[in-house]
Amino acid sequence: MIAPSILSADFANLAAELKAIEGSDWVHVDVMDNHFVPNLTLGLPVVQSILQVTDIPVDCHLMIENPERWAPGYAEAGAYNVTFHAETTDNPVAVARDIRAAGAKAGLSVKPNTPIEPYLEVLKEFDTLLVMSVEPGFGGQSFIPHVLDKARVVRDLVDAGELRLVVEIDGGINMDTIEQAAEAGVDCFVAGSAVYGTADPAETVEKLRQKVVAVEASAE
Ligand code: DX5
Ligand code: ZN
Repeated sequence: MIAPSILSADFANLAAELKAIEGSDWVHVDVMDNHFVPNLTLGLPVVQSILQVTDIPVDCHLMIENPERWAPGYAEAGAYNVTFHAETTDNPVAVARDIRAAGAKAGLSVKPNTPIEPYLEVLKEFDTLLVMSVEPGFGGQSFIPHVLDKARVVRDLVDAGELRLVVEIDGGINMDTIEQAAEAGVDCFVAGSAVYGTADPAETVEKLRQKVVAVEASAE
């Protein structure tokens, strides 16, 4: 699955920017609070407006403190998947249950230097693991390859039937880096600048998808 991030889109023309990525599997929406990350983007009212103008499932990536307070609202609004950061709560299971009870898939995200081992047990309560491959906060940064070790660990657990999860990666994904992520067993690829920085975003999404398909075909 390819999930373009609208962080690199034109925020004054979001309806058109969503049309420009028709055919994408998810649209990735980065919510930042200027506390957990040193940047501020958008919140629930904008997500509600996005939901009104697109049929693409909305993947909310909450880079915010206090997800207990805020995450369920995004699920109630109709987001398909709501992901929050492991670093922001002592009780990720409670937040995941609240998100699911409000009708969305629940995702857990880890920053590049956050180990995954302490979270393997709680991942049973989640639908998505979002592995950050840049420091969260900004688009256009370079891919950090060592995070793929985390994707591999979780991929093996999924393949062994011990977890049921979408393994998603976010940060620095482009035509040059997507193959190594696909080889590590990633299912869903977020791409911001690589999609919206091109003249035909929908065509770029399709090209990224073909790279993944080729990796999967050669693995069979
Ligand atoms: C960064 C965001 C990403 C961002 C990725 O904190 O979580 O979703 O949009 O941008 P690129 O694909 O340009 O690295
Ligand atoms: Zn993101």
